Amino acid sequence: MFLFFMTQEHEVAIVTGAKEGGIGFATAKKLAQRFGDGGIVHLTARDGRDAIAGRDTLRREGLSVISHKLDVTRQVDVDRIMEKISRDGSPTILVDAAVIFDSEDRGEKITRVSMDSVRKTFEVNTLGVLRMIQAVIPGMVAAGYGRIVEVVGSWGKNTRALEELHGRGGAYGMSKAADIYLVASVASQMEKQGYNDVRINGVDPGKVRTNMNPGGTLLPDEAAVYVEALTRPEVSTSGVLYVGSQVGDYGTYVRNDGALAHPR
Ligand SMILES: NC(=O)c1ccc[n+]([C@@H]2O[C@H](COP(=O)([O-])OP(=O)(O)OC[C@H]3O[C@@H](n4cnc5c(N)ncnc54)[C@H](OP(=O)(O)O)[C@@H]3O)[C@@H](O)[C@H]2O)c1
Repeated sequence: MFLFFMTQEHEVAIVTGAKEGGIGFATAKKLAQRFGDGGIVHLTARDGRDAIAGRDTLRREGLSVISHKLDVTRQVDVDRIMEKISRDGSPTILVDAAVIFDSEDRGEKITRVSMDSVRKTFEVNTLGVLRMIQAVIPGMVAAGYGRIVEVVGSWGKNTRALEELHGRGGAYGMSKAADIYLVASVASQMEKQGYNDVRINGVDPGKVRTNMNPGGTLLPDEAAVYVEALTRPEVSTSGVLYVGSQVGDYGTYVRNDGALAHPR
């Protein structure tokens, strides 16, 4: 019980890929709204100017976040940020929203796409995610508490590849499939080591209208409801979760009002 209140009052969140217009930015905003004065949100973007612009937008809405330049492919960036922010407390929340969907990969079939395009995709979408997880886990393990959310998606599921995509976007899909495995792998490690309150989940927010997917139907603010829900202290499962009627492997899903449901 004591731990519950302690973590509530000392939340420190870091969000990657949080440029305006995307799910990361909308999630940083929701976290800042939830925390009020009771926590810190580190809003990061690949280009430092985008991070500052995002911070200023939220400031005009009366919300407080700290902005940083963070390229998830650069270990030096990650180390610098972690050193800086840990002075105010190690992150209790990590949300990974940094992603690329390379133009070549969008149009080309997987049997023809260049290795450069695949490599670039994995550098951000998978190694970037692993790099961030490795950066925050030691602090979470030491505190015995943490929440990590990976925005995964249906493109990482083999059913989607078989039924709809037919080889298109294969590098993106492979990188997301790897992220789903990564989530399960970290979840399993935490559980086996007895860190039962260090939770990691992947969420599929649906088709969201963002910089990456201008044709999406949901607004980033609507998608952020699902992502933010999985950062809360009351999250009691780890694994891969899906929203709406798609029940995930671990039987938990997030309703569109942000409530967590445990149907099994
Ligand atoms: N939109 C959807 O329909 C949908 C569906 C399922 C899952 N998702 C997932 O949701 C997450 C967020 O995507 P989104 O739709 O919000 O896309 P987005 O608006 O394009 O956001 C992605 C962000 O990642 C940043 N980024 C790219 N390379 C980076 C790097 N090396 N270091 C740090 N940041 C980097 C981009 O910044 P720059 O523009 O400056 O490069 C951009 O701000 C992703 O994991 C995506 O796979 C999205």
